[in-house]
Amino acid sequence: MASSPWRGVIEEYRPYLPVTPRTPLVTLLEGATPLLRAPRLMRHLPGVDLHLKYEGQNPTGSFKDRGMTLAMSKALEEGSRAVLCASTGNTAAAAAAYARRAGMPCFVVVPAGGIAVGKLVQAMAHGARVVPVEGSFDEALRIVRDAAPRLRLTLVNSVNPFRIEGQKTGAFEICDALGRAPDVLAIPVGNAGNITAYWRGFVQYQGAGRVSTLPKMWGFQAAGAAPFVLGHPVDRPETIASAIRIGRPASWDGAVAAARESGGGFEAVTDEELLAARRLLAAEEGVFVEPSSAAPIAGLLKRAREGRLPPGAPLIVCVLTGHGLKDPESVLRTERRPEAVPATPEALEQAVDEVLAVRG
Ligand code: F0G
Repeated sequence: MASSPWRGVIEEYRPYLPVTPRTPLVTLLEGATPLLRAPRLMRHLPGVDLHLKYEGQNPTGSFKDRGMTLAMSKALEEGSRAVLCASTGNTAAAAAAYARRAGMPCFVVVPAGGIAVGKLVQAMAHGARVVPVEGSFDEALRIVRDAAPRLRLTLVNSVNPFRIEGQKTGAFEICDALGRAPDVLAIPVGNAGNITAYWRGFVQYQGAGRVSTLPKMWGFQAAGAAPFVLGHPVDRPETIASAIRIGRPASWDGAVAAARESGGGFEAVTDEELLAARRLLAAEEGVFVEPSSAAPIAGLLKRAREGRLPPGAPLIVCVLTGHGLKDPESVLRTERRPEAVPATPEALEQAVDEVLAVRG
C-alpha cells in the first residue's frame, strides 16, 4: 500500500507548531528531504557513521522553505499587506516564492554584488522587488529591522519567531528517519537561526518523549566570517561562501546556548577547505551543494586529519543547507570549463580513453 502523500511541514508536524485551525496554509510541500548515508565520505572519517540531510531538495533549493511556510502562513493570518527581508540570497528566494504562493508583494534587500546568481534570479523570477544596497548583509538586516514596523511590512528574516519554529522541523525529520537523535549535528552557521532552530527541535522532541538523547551541536563557520569562533562580531566578513558572509549574527544567544547546553561548539574552516569539501561531496557521493553547505563536511574532514573525531562510532548528521545550482560561478573556481572538440567519433573516443586510462 502506498504511504499517504507528504503534506508539507506544517501539516506533518502541526502539534509542535504555533498554528490554529484558522491559520491559512501557505506551502510548497517543503520538507521530507533525503537523509542519505555517505559510505564513500565515511572512508575519510574513520569510525564515523555519517548521514547527510540534503536540504537542497526543498522547493526553492534551501532549508529556508521550512521557516518560510510558517512565517508566510502567519503573515497571511495576521492580515499583513506585504513581506520584507534582508538576505544573502536563499531567504530572498524562499520569501519571493512563498509570497507569490500567498498572493503578497515581497521586498528583498541584498548586499549589492554579494549574492549568488542562482538566488538572485529566483527572487526576480518570482516577482520580488529586489533592492541591492551598497553594504553588507549585516547592514541590510539593520535597515530592514528598522524599516519594517514603520512601513508596516512583515519581516520574514529569522528574527521573526515563526521562521525558527518552522525550521526546527528539520530536527524532527532526522529523528523520525533514524528512530533516535544523532550523536552530533554538524551545521553551517551564518545568521545563526538554523542552529538555534535545530536545537529547539531536538529539545522539544525529547520533551515529547519522541527521542531519549540529544545531539552535540557543532557549528561551522567560514574562517573570514567566524564571529562565534572569535567570540565577538566581525566588521568586514569575507568568504567565498556568500550565504554565510555574516559578521553580526542575529540569533547570537540562541546559537551560543545550543552549543553550550549540548556540549558542542564552533569551529572555522578556510575557503580552500570549503571548496575541497564541496568537490569531494559532489564527486564521491553525487550530492551537489553550495559552498556554505560544505562547511560541516570540511570541518569533519579537518577534525579527522587532526585526530579529533569523537570515539565510539558516533552517528553524525551534516545539514547540507543549499543546492549547488544556487551558485554555479563558485564551481568555476575549481573546475575548468570543457573545451569543444571536433564532432567526430574519434574525438569522443579520445576523451573516453583519457578518462578511463587515468582510472586504470
Ligand atoms: N547555508 C545556507 C545555504 C544559507 O543560505 C544560510 C543562511 C546558512 C547556511 C546559515 O544559516 O543564517 O541560519 O545560520 N542564509 C541566510 C540568507 C542568511 O539570507 O539566505 P543561518
